[in-house]
Amino acid sequence: MNKPLPDIIKKAFRPKFEILEQIGEGGMATVYKAIQINLNRYVALKIIHPGFAHDQEFLARFHREAQLCSAINHPNIITIYDEGEIADIHYLAMEFLEGMTLDQLIFRYKQLEPDITFSYLLPIARALDIVHRKGLIHRDIKSSNIFITNEGHPVLMDFGIAHSNSFLTVSQTGAVIGTPAYMSPEQAAGVELDSRSDIYSFGVVLFECLSGRVPLSASNPFSTIHRIIYEQPPLLKSMIPETPEWLSDLVALLLQKEADKRPQTINQVIELISNPQHHFGNHDTKRSSMTLYSAVGMFIGLLALLVYYINFTDKMPVKEQNQSNPSSQQIKQKIDSAAINPMKDSDSANKNNIIYNNDSAEIPYFYQQSLTNN
Ligand SMILES: Nc1ncnc2c1ncn2[C@@H]1O[C@H](COP(=O)(O)OP(=O)(O)OP(=O)(O)O)[C@@H](O)[C@H]1O
Ligand SMILES: [Mg+2]
Repeated sequence: MNKPLPDIIKKAFRPKFEILEQIGEGGMATVYKAIQINLNRYVALKIIHPGFAHDQEFLARFHREAQLCSAINHPNIITIYDEGEIADIHYLAMEFLEGMTLDQLIFRYKQLEPDITFSYLLPIARALDIVHRKGLIHRDIKSSNIFITNEGHPVLMDFGIAHSNSFLTVSQTGAVIGTPAYMSPEQAAGVELDSRSDIYSFGVVLFECLSGRVPLSASNPFSTIHRIIYEQPPLLKSMIPETPEWLSDLVALLLQKEADKRPQTINQVIELISNPQHHFGNHDTKRSSMTLYSAVGMFIGLLALLVYYINFTDKMPVKEQNQSNPSSQQIKQKIDSAAINPMKDSDSANKNNIIYNNDSAEIPYFYQQSLTNN
């Protein structure tokens, strides 16, 4: 529910920002669309809830993380424009994005196809690689911190920025805020973290995209934490039977309880996703699931093509004879380029079936199609 911002606060911000409307709210901050006056541009203005105004440690960390994030210049990482304090109110001004967060997208479409999922998560993994190479840990990888713009461009937000040092945040009324469902077991246990904690959380997001739900959750945050520490997450394949074996194995690897048993770097995760056939044996290693029926259909199709070829090739013009099916390498390149910017131009987006329909700029065409088919 949107709470109007008191006029006195709007007035205090006016020399720098004209606050227009609330666009979102999280556990620790409210986000407003605003105009940065000196540059006359829209910004997303994140204002920390007043309840945190006296938590000096939290505020120091908030500003430090904002500064660290602003030092990273990457197309898949949110750009920070400004941060500071006005009239005791701590804020962060960042680029204003149009689209929806990944959790909103999953909520709307229930679950995402593997190709669509990787077109969002591979660029995020590459962005995370940059973050880790700088010696930073994101600490708060979750679907609500990944924004998908209307052009299908994924952007990683919120570098553990608005997180207090205690792993759960308790509001003034005593209620626990936020969901621990994306926390690694070591994060849930409150021990020291390294970048492999982000790899676990990345696995949770991958699981959520493909199945529509997080692997371990419960009706309250404390039970969720207990489950994360002590219970094995379900296999993706047990929930979505058509999941290719390698993809289910990959997710299980990312969700290993012990950090030593996970891929040790996000770069290794990128490699596993990019070349599953090298790492998961040679069983079904396509990124999207293929049923037995489609395999049989393809075989019959190829057989028919072969017969056609034997009978008619001598009558065909040379140019047509040279037409061939794309090689697996070409398909891989296509997926990789889609992963970098799946909706960059309508042509490439078209090939990946994820263009936006003009009638509803917000809804990826891919989903409109699948919704119509169902
Ligand atoms: N740069 C931005 N551009 C547009 N909308 C944004 C931007 N940043 C945040 N939002 C919107 O504000 C909402 C709240 O973001 P916020 O980070 O405060 O909360 P959260 O990530 O859902 O939860 P948490 O408190 O755990 O961080 C987001 O879900 C998103 O809809
Ligand atoms: Mg957030």
